[in-house]
Amino acid sequence: MEEPNRPLQFEVVTTRMGALSIRDNISQEIMHNPVGPWVEANSLYIEQSHLRRRLSELKSSELVIFDVGLGAAANALAALHCARALESRRPLRLVSFERDLGLLQFALDNAHHFPHFKGFGSAVRSILQTGQWIEDGIAWELRHGDFVSLIDREVTRADVIFYDPYSFKKNQEMWLPSVFAKVREKCSPTGMLFTYSRATPIRVGMLLSGFFVGTGVATGSKDETTQASVRLEDLENPLGQAWLNKWQRSHSPNAPGAGDEDLAATQAFVLSHSQFSSLDWRHF
Ligand SMILES: C[S@@+](CC[C@H](N)C(=O)[O-])C[C@H]1O[C@@H](n2cnc3c(N)ncnc32)[C@H](O)[C@@H]1O
Repeated sequence: MEEPNRPLQFEVVTTRMGALSIRDNISQEIMHNPVGPWVEANSLYIEQSHLRRRLSELKSSELVIFDVGLGAAANALAALHCARALESRRPLRLVSFERDLGLLQFALDNAHHFPHFKGFGSAVRSILQTGQWIEDGIAWELRHGDFVSLIDREVTRADVIFYDPYSFKKNQEMWLPSVFAKVREKCSPTGMLFTYSRATPIRVGMLLSGFFVGTGVATGSKDETTQASVRLEDLENPLGQAWLNKWQRSHSPNAPGAGDEDLAATQAFVLSHSQFSSLDWRHF
């Protein structure tokens, strides 16, 4: 019997800003749209997390990054390029979570389109074949499977988290407060999470999960992204009075997955969150 003509799951596309990226024809999302993988990986995850500075600290303890949604490895490879470029640095452990390695295999097969693969072809092949790669104080490890269950079993503690699943519309389970609570539990005492979303419900969910939450850098067509941290003092721009006012007027003030019956408790929790109780003395 003839195979029906099914469209390929992934294809290399040019974004409207002229960058080459990959489109997933099932989720119908283009990775790192519209600035392209290399620009977004660096601005949103590497520069914003001050990775270079963190890696340059004179410490013998390793810096741990959780790379959630390894995908086509732009974020992971940006971290590896950053580490390799430093002459002396503390050890790095990069822990990548991914349930479907098809996208990484596709990116590797099309690596001629993506210069950031240069010098890391064997590292990516090793991740695909053995789930790990080690070089000169850098350990890259794959956690293959569903992040929502893998995170429960994770034994390392993250200093930096690149949180890059598909959008809430396509990948709801990854944006639930219950998942952020698990992530929060696996943070080091100074852990910080970076993500492209700036959606109000997602920020509410992060607050409910025990994070402090702030605005992150603009990238591409996004005028703002999000940082979440274990300690308030690590945020560059904590959400303050302006966000609270907007949230109180919002049509979706609840966290993802919550119902109308949860709203009163959510409002009480957010309004008494220590991030906002300090507003008076901070003169927002
Ligand atoms: C936007 S892509 C990630 C792009 C990637 N960070 C990069 O730099 O190329 C989202 C990825 O998250 C993965 N993902 C989504 N939900 C997941 C889950 N529950 N567990 C593990 N991986 C998941 C998808 O398979 C997909 O590869």
